[in-house]
Amino acid sequence: MCGIVGYVGAQQAAPLLVEGLTRLEHRGYDSAGIAVVGSRLQVTKKAGRVRDLAAALPKRLAGKVGIGHTRWATHGPATDANAHPHTDTAGQVAVVHNGIVDNAAALRARLAADGVELVSDTDTEVFAHLVARSGADTLEGKVVEALAQVEGTYGLAVVHAGFPDRIVVARHGSPLIVGVGDREMFVASDLAALVRHTTTVAHLDDGELATVTATGFTTFRHDLSRTATQASEVDIDPSVYGQGEHGDVSGAPRMYTEILEQPASVERTLRGRLDERFGTTHLGGLNLDPRELRAFRRVKILGCGSAYYVGEMGASLIEELARVPADAEPASEFRYRNPIIEPDTLYVAVSQSGETVDTLLAVEEIKRKGGRVVGLVNVVGSAIARATDGGIYLHAGPEIAVASTKALTTMFVGFALLAIQLGRVRDLSVADGKRLVTGLQRLPGQIGEILKTEDDVAAIAQDLAQAESLFFVGRVRGYPVAREGAQKLKEITYRHAEAYPTSELKHGPLALISPQVPTVAIVPDDELTDRNVAALHEIAARGGPLVVVTHPEVDLGTLDVRRIEVPRNETELDPILLTVPLQLLAYHASLALGLDVDKPRNLAKSVTVE
Ligand code: AGP
Repeated sequence: MCGIVGYVGAQQAAPLLVEGLTRLEHRGYDSAGIAVVGSRLQVTKKAGRVRDLAAALPKRLAGKVGIGHTRWATHGPATDANAHPHTDTAGQVAVVHNGIVDNAAALRARLAADGVELVSDTDTEVFAHLVARSGADTLEGKVVEALAQVEGTYGLAVVHAGFPDRIVVARHGSPLIVGVGDREMFVASDLAALVRHTTTVAHLDDGELATVTATGFTTFRHDLSRTATQASEVDIDPSVYGQGEHGDVSGAPRMYTEILEQPASVERTLRGRLDERFGTTHLGGLNLDPRELRAFRRVKILGCGSAYYVGEMGASLIEELARVPADAEPASEFRYRNPIIEPDTLYVAVSQSGETVDTLLAVEEIKRKGGRVVGLVNVVGSAIARATDGGIYLHAGPEIAVASTKALTTMFVGFALLAIQLGRVRDLSVADGKRLVTGLQRLPGQIGEILKTEDDVAAIAQDLAQAESLFFVGRVRGYPVAREGAQKLKEITYRHAEAYPTSELKHGPLALISPQVPTVAIVPDDELTDRNVAALHEIAARGGPLVVVTHPEVDLGTLDVRRIEVPRNETELDPILLTVPLQLLAYHASLALGLDVDKPRNLAKSVTVE
């Protein structure tokens, strides 16, 4: 949530800051601003999008040092005054901040009592005043003194008119990286902002600060003692970050390009990991040998939002293939119930960004209690990837749209790879292992086939978009599919979509079924098809319009439904194929409503505050 950029070097900072913010806009998009240090400190900030900021910039904005921010509001509405950077009263200090100051109210009251006029509703503004009021004679000393008074989380960048050659950055619970260029340096909360300029990057650790000048950077702790953090080359192809705010497909929304990328991203997840001969998988990054894998008696999966729903699909896969009890739980709830951490449980944290704070804190809680936790993470080198004991990188490529699509399909594939390996060190036969390996190999082509049905799905989406309220239903493997389908529709159409196990309809929700309330039903060709079809009849008898996501083999008899077909794979792998049309359904419903698909209201790509 929120994005930070910074630049120090020989070029004018403002255009580079705006470009960096454009690349980070998915992180927060209610306001944006920059501060540039030239002959004086100049701040421009604006409610709205980065393009509104760019339009508001003064013609002459000279300065080769600067910081910028794109905001997702935590304290105070999206207004010009609440946008970052925040400054002190004299306009000497500017601060951008990701995170939350927990003791902001107390600090604001203390500053106000001292006669400081606070001009925003934010928690961040206190930083600027505290830095300005510090008596230390270096910017580093001032920042450290200010931070000593603050409780909470931060990724922070500070510039000061009195120290015009540098940016000081600090990290505690919110990511910050420093990019090393040729006699120029970059600061960012996310690789996406600087990867076009450099792939030589240093990740700050929690509790670390850095001074960044045009010639390099030094890292230090809060007691000003030096640390040894070095920059290294990140293994990433800058071109995969696309053209910035929009995708490469003639200005189409990023969500659309990311849906279309799925065959390729699934292929990348699978690459080098399948063992056709022994019907198993190679997952070197897990750092678990077969004996350790066999010793686990339980698997607990933790993730948030859609990652949690795919975690539920993953738990089913693990139970079915490895016959190990497995379940998924929202990471955001986990640590608040003082969880029992068992030595023979394998904990799996699943996250696209690798930054979701609730998932990260769950990982830290497990580790504090001695548990073994691995990650299924997309962003290489992210906080969760670094906090876990090993894991599976998803290799989905950068995902920018707030509504997650390609990361989720690769998460499912990651769980399948793990489940097969856990199964093969137990009772999963070579034959079944081979059957599933072959099934995984078929997925990219089958996803491609589903994408070809886009026009039909779009026509259904046009009609569904008119409904104020919808149900998504599925049973067992199909239930997390329904949950994810409802989630996607909610996120980008603002329609009320509720997911239920089909079997639960009769226990209450059937009362809501009417001609105005459509149901999207997941009906795979499996052992529950008959039961599912019976439920469809019950909905139809009450006049409920039906959209059925199903396999060609399923006979729906005389039922009047709109049918979306996906090809069959192995039963265990079918859920992910049933999910893909639901992405298209939500996407086209959002388009039909004329909404901003990539930047849904109230949301941001990664949730880095509690
Ligand atoms: C997905 O469409 C959502 N935007 C959201 O639920 C997301 O999956 C969740 O916040 C977890 O994010 P992560 O995978 O980066 O941890």
